[in-house]
Amino acid sequence: MSSEPPSPDSAPGSTPAQHAHGHNHQPDPELYRTEPVSFVRRGDRLTTRRQRTWDRAAGTYIVDVPRDRATTSVAEGTRIDWAQVFGRSAPLVVDIGSGLGESTVQGAVDHPDWDLISVEVYTPGLAAMLVQVEDRELGNVRGVQANAPEVLDRLLPAGGVQEVWVFFPDPWHKTRHHKRRLVSPAFADRVARVLAPGGVLRLATDWSSYAVHMREVMQSHPAFENVHPGRAAGAGSPLTRVRLEGRELQVGAQPVAPRVGTLRAGVSEATAGASVQDPVDHDGGWAPRFEGRPLTSFESKALNAGRLVFDLTYRRR
Ligand SMILES: C[S@@+](CC[C@H](N)C(=O)[O-])C[C@H]1O[C@@H](n2cnc3c(N)ncnc32)[C@H](O)[C@@H]1O
Repeated sequence: MSSEPPSPDSAPGSTPAQHAHGHNHQPDPELYRTEPVSFVRRGDRLTTRRQRTWDRAAGTYIVDVPRDRATTSVAEGTRIDWAQVFGRSAPLVVDIGSGLGESTVQGAVDHPDWDLISVEVYTPGLAAMLVQVEDRELGNVRGVQANAPEVLDRLLPAGGVQEVWVFFPDPWHKTRHHKRRLVSPAFADRVARVLAPGGVLRLATDWSSYAVHMREVMQSHPAFENVHPGRAAGAGSPLTRVRLEGRELQVGAQPVAPRVGTLRAGVSEATAGASVQDPVDHDGGWAPRFEGRPLTSFESKALNAGRLVFDLTYRRR
């Protein structure tokens, strides 16, 4: 899931008829508004255990979403009464791109007084989470199988969310794919709308170029303030270390050639682009590792490959 997807696939919800028409005036179902989606469709095959769990529990724990065109879309005008869904009114935490659901489950176990919404397009991921939800008898978790920007715009009330988590979003390494990255100025606007004042957005990534992008997007957004301004700057910055220690020698499956004359040998192309002259990160602002974030297979893979993890926390003003 964290490796570079080969290429965006065909529109999940499109019909053969749509493809057949040369002059299709319908909106491209792969887009939400004018934005490409940040995921590619992957196999939805379930193991026997996950299939059984899905068949038994999805009706209870996976929220039914009216669709627009694509199978992962959310129909305009949809409203969900979360207090009714959970049977109570409690602080809402939204885990976006929750993968196998480890952080959602951990949050639900650690905070029985919170209600957690896991947003994921990948059925096996949601099914794996349901196995845990059933095993641990968690009443405070629901899954939504839909494109996260649409969930933020259409399913969540303004100012109604306490925390939004985005852990290890797909990195989309290639420059021409950067527009598919989930975290963007438009995404920050969407999160700003749903977070209550004082609510927080927690981000984590193992790719320095995405970390720098996230920090730039969030620092320049007027609705947010960094909870850890200036923290871990200079020699102690994970960014400085990645740049000087050459820790991202593979990007996707591709080895990265050192950029002679720009930075020291071994420095990541993903981090540097052509323009970084000073490898020292003078800005910092990195958060300590969020203790509510369990070590997932994605993070383990990153650490085993020698990469570092960047955490960021922003508070809604
Ligand atoms: C690299 S995985 C990380 C999973 C998990 N957060 C973790 O830390 O282990 C990213 C996940 O985000 C999901 N995803 C990507 N774009 C999404 C979107 N627009 N809406 C919902 N899920 C999305 C992918 O299907 C994938 O499971």
